[in-house]
Amino acid sequence: MKIVTIVGARPQFIKAAPIGRALRQAGHSEFLVHTGQHYDYGMSQVFFAELDIPEPAGNLAVGSGLHGAQTGAMLAGIEQVLIAQRPDWVLVYGDTNSTLAGALAAAKLHLPLAHVEAGLRSYKRTMPEEINRVLTDHVSDLLFCPSRVSVENLAREGLTRGVHVVGDVMADALTYAVERAQSRSSILEQLGLTPHDYLLATVHRAENTDDPARLTGILSAFAQMDELIVFPVHPRTRARMDALGVTVAANVRLIAPLGYLDMVRLEQAARLILTDSGGIQKEAYWLGVPCVTLRDETEWVETVESGWNVLAGDDPAKIVQCVRDSTPLSTRPPLYGDGQAATRVVIALQETILS
Ligand code: UD1
Ligand code: UDP
Repeated sequence: MKIVTIVGARPQFIKAAPIGRALRQAGHSEFLVHTGQHYDYGMSQVFFAELDIPEPAGNLAVGSGLHGAQTGAMLAGIEQVLIAQRPDWVLVYGDTNSTLAGALAAAKLHLPLAHVEAGLRSYKRTMPEEINRVLTDHVSDLLFCPSRVSVENLAREGLTRGVHVVGDVMADALTYAVERAQSRSSILEQLGLTPHDYLLATVHRAENTDDPARLTGILSAFAQMDELIVFPVHPRTRARMDALGVTVAANVRLIAPLGYLDMVRLEQAARLILTDSGGIQKEAYWLGVPCVTLRDETEWVETVESGWNVLAGDDPAKIVQCVRDSTPLSTRPPLYGDGQAATRVVIALQETILS
């Protein structure tokens, strides 16, 4: 079986790693295309190096830009690759512009398309990710869902064929990384951190970074906390903070984006995580770290229902209160599979070769 995999943004490198390993183990050939959506060393290459991902066979070097220009450039580049490769499957991940470009390119060429992390919904159409994931799901032949909730979301849109609950490949990735992070990462020592004596924060979602009121609201909440906050800053957020000329309070420690092993180590040892990231809400849950989500809604509703994750939005008083109130709970039922999603994906791809 020949697979063309499309990746381009940080979480996609992490998601593609376990499936790439499972494909190699099963003797399949994978042609990895990097769109170039993320390109800084710390947003891209570090993950290839740490997670033993083979060098991409092609890099479209599309870079940053407006949504239309960026997605369009990817679409044109991916189309050429797919015409040349004619794979049995095109594999796309998540909900970025790279996902949508890969999906459209495959669909227009009538090539079988599989979407990993299908059926997630925020029901907020102003989010670029919501448009990307809805459109991708509707042109996919195989839809790999992390949970029953995503299957139900798809069914509400009339999508029932080719839907498989496989669990979440990010659980596979985390399982792979946890021990490596413990033994290989020295980030706690480098930053002089005491385990469980700091909060970890990430903010990068457009709705937070591109709205000065929301961004300053979140930063002012951080300033009101009497705990150290370690904040690896996404380049998008760094650019917005620089443009607004905002400074952060003394308890907030800004650092560059981290590699995955350092990030997992910091997550494991945090007292609590503040984030607007999709992936990090789940990692917090799997690692048993309380999470305060800096959004008004989430796709990962099960984490909220479990009591481990709370939606605080951008209101400083609410964020501060949520952080004060959050403590680990005594129970944490398994969510989003067992860390074996990649194997299930590969089996389903093998069994569903379309003519
Ligand atoms: C993208 C995804 C988002 C995902 C996130 C993961 C879309 C629409 N959004 O958001 O769903 O959660 O990736 O991190 O696809 N930049 C750099 N260096 C880089 C990459 C980006 O400086 O290596 C800066 C540029 O100023 C760029 C900005 O970050 O304009 C935003 O990058 P972009 O890829 O457009 O979107 P993200 O915010 O990263
Ligand atoms: N991550 C990382 N270094 C960082 C921030 C995040 O390795 O500095 C990892 C994080 O652990 C998770 C993934 O990147 O596995 C989440 O990516 P991101 O938050 O960029 O995107 P989202 O999940 O919101 O799409």
